[in-house]
Amino acid sequence: MTYVRHVRHSRRTPWRFAVSLGDVPSRRARSLPFLRPLTRHARIPVRAFEEASARAGGELVRLNMGPLRPYLVTHPDHVQHILKNNQPNYVRSGMFWDPLAPLLGQGILSDGEGWAASRKILQPVFTARYVNSLTERMAQIIDALIDATVVPGRRTNVAELISTLIHPTIVRLFLGATISDADINRLAPAYDTGVTARSIRLLLPFVPQRFPLPGDRAFRRAVRTIDEVVYPRIDNARARGDEEVDLVSRLVSARRHEPGADKLIRDDMVAIHGAATETSVTALSWVWPVLAAHPDVAAKVYAEVERVVGGGPVTVAHLPELTYLKMFVDELVRLYPPGWILPRTAAGNDLIDGIEVPAGSTMVLSPYLTHRLPDFWDRPLDFDPERFAPGNDRSRHRYAYFPFAAGPHVCLGPHLFMMEALLLIAGILCRFRPAPDTPGPTAPRLASTLRPSRGLSMTLVLAEGR
Ligand code: HEM
Repeated sequence: MTYVRHVRHSRRTPWRFAVSLGDVPSRRARSLPFLRPLTRHARIPVRAFEEASARAGGELVRLNMGPLRPYLVTHPDHVQHILKNNQPNYVRSGMFWDPLAPLLGQGILSDGEGWAASRKILQPVFTARYVNSLTERMAQIIDALIDATVVPGRRTNVAELISTLIHPTIVRLFLGATISDADINRLAPAYDTGVTARSIRLLLPFVPQRFPLPGDRAFRRAVRTIDEVVYPRIDNARARGDEEVDLVSRLVSARRHEPGADKLIRDDMVAIHGAATETSVTALSWVWPVLAAHPDVAAKVYAEVERVVGGGPVTVAHLPELTYLKMFVDELVRLYPPGWILPRTAAGNDLIDGIEVPAGSTMVLSPYLTHRLPDFWDRPLDFDPERFAPGNDRSRHRYAYFPFAAGPHVCLGPHLFMMEALLLIAGILCRFRPAPDTPGPTAPRLASTLRPSRGLSMTLVLAEGR
């Protein structure tokens, strides 16, 4: 067992612990050199994190990157401490979050009061009942998009194909069925620029926001484009006045008495859209290289889709029967969790497992690394959906698996994601079989999410008998 203790924190006290530690000796975290491993693994930087995690062996360590020395958090007890038990001390601000604040706004993807107000409104919206009410429409949209997009026998970039299927689906569900194709086509690249254009600020965190850096102008243009599409949708929803099922109508209705509501609704729409699309596209891009690498698993998936859905189309009634596919998706986001790191900043001093965590420290939690810890997972690197067969999670530490985070900031979208994943994968596989064009295993590429390596492509061929 590890020892985790809450420590009262104060922004004013300089580096000094505010509790008596009794007989628990406190110590500083071990520091692991990280710049050299990063250089050594420049092409696949996630390998440097894997090495650091192996050396840490579950201990709370610091990654020595010169002026920057974030804590690497992998042990499930420590994850629980930060995301749940002492969550108010670990805020979503700092070098990873601040550059994106003008895009994501002051709502659900911020912290503090703005976040709490948004969460209060959004949590009751994203009930299983509401998501289920969207699923029939989602099934129709995805089916029509597969029909319109997939050309059998043609080599296709995997991420582009999945984005072409996911992006309009999410936009139509959230921003309303009447949004034009032109507006949908403006949103996708604007989001992409929005989340990538400021990456340089992550490398230069000491440069104040007011000093211009390359990418800033593209970022501002992207934010403007997004606003030009989103604000009219808010007006449109208000003009309709009825309680439609789309998300923007629900938010207009929930905030109808609030001053400045439009900006608050905009912030939540943009943040949720970002949270929902980038993660889903990333997760569902991994399906294809994983199927190619595991023919035994693929055979089971194909057999289930054939038995349950036949030649399609997939309907809501099929979803509860796609049990192996659901286990496949659970295992997919274990080995390839799109949110591969969850950064936090310690607001006050803390003590985790006897290790001092001074106020202002950057904490890097990583579902990717925790999901691969040999102390908590049998054969951690094997892709095995059976881990998620009903009942098989009984002996697992609750915080050994957290692809959707945990605690007060837990993701609002797991159910929506699962519906979307089953519809998309079964929708493709009931008609086509994938043939990968890129030989060999696929390496993860670090972006804001954990994407498969750039340029991964496949060819979808008609399934036998179709
Ligand atoms: C594979 C798909 C998804 C993954 C892996 C994922 C993962 C996550 C993670 C790790 C967080 C916590 C981030 C943090 O606090 O640092 C989060 C938050 C969030 N996710 Fe997801 N997500 C996915 C899909 C979705 C979808 C489809 C929606 C749509 C509703 C969504 C909405 C949100 C929202 C609103 C939050 C912020 C919650 C809060 O802070 O109160 N996510 N997600």
